[in-house]
Amino acid sequence: MGAVTSMNTAKVANARKDFALFDAQPELAFLDTAASAQKPKQVLAAIEDCYAQHYANIHRGVYKLSQEATMAYEGARKTVAEFINADEREIIFTRNATESINLVASTWGRQNLKAGDVVLLSELEHHANIVPWHMLRDELGIELRIIPMTDEGGITLDAFKSVLDDKVKLLAITHMSNALGTCPPVAEMVKLCKAKGITTLVDGCQAVIHNIVDVKALGCDFFVFSGHKLYGPTGIGVLFGRYDLLEAMPPYQGGGDMIRTVTFDKVTYVPAPGKFEAGTPHIAGAVGLAAAIDYLNSYGRENIFAYEDELYAYATEQLQSIEGLTLYGTDVSRKAVLSFAVDGIHPHDMGTILDQYGVCVRAGHHCAQPLMKRLGVPATTRASVGIYNNKADVDRLVKAINKAKELFHG
Ligand code: ALA
Repeated sequence: MGAVTSMNTAKVANARKDFALFDAQPELAFLDTAASAQKPKQVLAAIEDCYAQHYANIHRGVYKLSQEATMAYEGARKTVAEFINADEREIIFTRNATESINLVASTWGRQNLKAGDVVLLSELEHHANIVPWHMLRDELGIELRIIPMTDEGGITLDAFKSVLDDKVKLLAITHMSNALGTCPPVAEMVKLCKAKGITTLVDGCQAVIHNIVDVKALGCDFFVFSGHKLYGPTGIGVLFGRYDLLEAMPPYQGGGDMIRTVTFDKVTYVPAPGKFEAGTPHIAGAVGLAAAIDYLNSYGRENIFAYEDELYAYATEQLQSIEGLTLYGTDVSRKAVLSFAVDGIHPHDMGTILDQYGVCVRAGHHCAQPLMKRLGVPATTRASVGIYNNKADVDRLVKAINKAKELFHG
């Protein structure tokens, strides 16, 4: 991370004004960005402009409006490619990260895996990076092997190496746990996989919010994320795939736009990325996602990270000072997420009480049931920080937790 002046983080501290939600509810502590982020006015304006002034179907029309819409959609692809340092041809728009992983499982997986091959996951994964591989196991007879996590929610290189052998054909791993905020040493893991010819898929849903992602430097074969956690709209996600892999993969779904020629006897396809984008895509979603990326770049992403890290350190300190509160995922690699439980209060009850004090958090298994099982808890309460949060939000959270304790324990 480059040098950050306090002036730069001060600018980020004003970002709250960009969100209409806080104009209407200035006291609201929205601490659930890990589930989905609020949308800045700039993103809403870009979506409205797309539909109001530049909308038509893309890749089809000979008229100017359609060409404008096509340029906006393909421009969004370029923005996303630059954002993660990929080539434009390597960016496929999907509905979300879940669909991106399903696409890889259904195409690359079916084409390249066979009975007995191992797909390596970690104990940190959320269901989006477990269930598609389960389905493939039922279909092909592959084996799912799990990298164990430490009690603190970390993944060590030793743990990774202990489950690595010649049967491993794919590593599919989170870059940052959605439930705990801990970050496996993905760069080193990818490097080791490359040396052994193992394909790698990195689930960047959370990491992309809180880190600079450079897929070339990372060296992974696939990288996925969702737009809605990155302050963009719902219904738009990204699959990055190394171009030679995409070229060799069969299409995912069939329909318009992904074909070159169709007869009743034979179909030929356009090259990637078009081959994987059947039907009219989420044009305004792609435009909105690009606007979200432009929005984050306008603050300087390192400035945002520095601001969030400072706030996260404050929040951690405050929560740790609450008697009877257990923080989960204390590995040093953690970021932005505080998963906790308070003695004698079910995390769901905690979430409901916090809501009564204007604090929005997620309570439950966080779509990571195996991780909860490993922690030995049915659920946790999770607070996660984003660009619009401030110390007042953390103070409201702490006050509301103490109110819950009073209610339950007197
Ligand atoms: N994966 C999302 C979360 O962590 C939904 O809450």
